[in-house]
Amino acid sequence: MGIAIDLELCKKDGFCGQVCPASLISMEGPEGSPAPVEEFAEICLHCGHCLAVCPHGALTLDGVAPGDCPPVAKDLKISPEMARQFLQGRRSIRRYKDKEVERSQLEEIIDIARQAPTGHNSQPVEWLVISGRDQVAEIAGLVAEWMRWMIENMPEIAEMLHMDRTVGRFEAGEDPLMRGAPNLLVTHAHKDNPFAQSSATIALTYVDLACYSLGLGACWAGYFYRAALTFPPLQEYLALPGGHITYGAMMLGHAKYKYLRIPPRNPAKITWR
Ligand SMILES: Cc1cc2nc3c(=O)[nH]c(=O)nc-3n(C[C@H](O)[C@H](O)[C@H](O)COP(=O)(O)O)c2cc1C
Repeated sequence: MGIAIDLELCKKDGFCGQVCPASLISMEGPEGSPAPVEEFAEICLHCGHCLAVCPHGALTLDGVAPGDCPPVAKDLKISPEMARQFLQGRRSIRRYKDKEVERSQLEEIIDIARQAPTGHNSQPVEWLVISGRDQVAEIAGLVAEWMRWMIENMPEIAEMLHMDRTVGRFEAGEDPLMRGAPNLLVTHAHKDNPFAQSSATIALTYVDLACYSLGLGACWAGYFYRAALTFPPLQEYLALPGGHITYGAMMLGHAKYKYLRIPPRNPAKITWR
């Protein structure tokens, strides 16, 4: 559909053309206003930067007008100290209350994650939301089965990751696999999509942070992810759309405990050039 310029509002400052990732907007429209270049329709990423940057609300993209997009609220901007505290205060949560996350909150979390960067603005990530401790526990059982298979068939990797101990804990009634979480958010996309892995990882990072902002807890489901990539019984259980694989998942719930300190991490190894 392309871009439409309201010539009464446009001040011809050229911001829209400057921010276009593919330089698809020239200033060769009527009276020096913005206009799409010839390859616009073919190459446009539909990222909306031209629409989002215009201070005059003069540009409509693909039929989406500035008034259709929420403004970036200046009064909600957080300070650098708040950002540091927020990002460094987040922890992986492994103990959950016996209470599911409400659907409206899950929707809110996924809605936030939709704005995560994606390669070429391809937005390839889809979501499978598993709700209920029993269902997540069933999945934990399948992950344990995968671990037993690993111990039998790939003993070196199993040993390196202490899988025998983890399975032992699971069999003793603990859940080191899915942490007794009441919800699991699984990302999936087509197996051949070159942007899917990075996009899903970033989207899940948003999920982790969104949960923290909402007073919820989250934790990467690494064992689940490994199992879901290779273990047919778990793949059958998940029943993802044809050609899709999972690119990562996160356990969610209401955190049972609060963290009061920021634990140390290794100093950053940096090469300055
Ligand atoms: C890719 C990835 C996979 C992970 N998988 C698991 C997992 O399966 N189970 C778990 O309890 N924690 C898992 N974690 C959480 C890490 O153990 C955790 O991030 C790390 O110990 C640092 O703690 P923090 O997140 O609280 O800073 C995973 C983290 C990442 C990034």
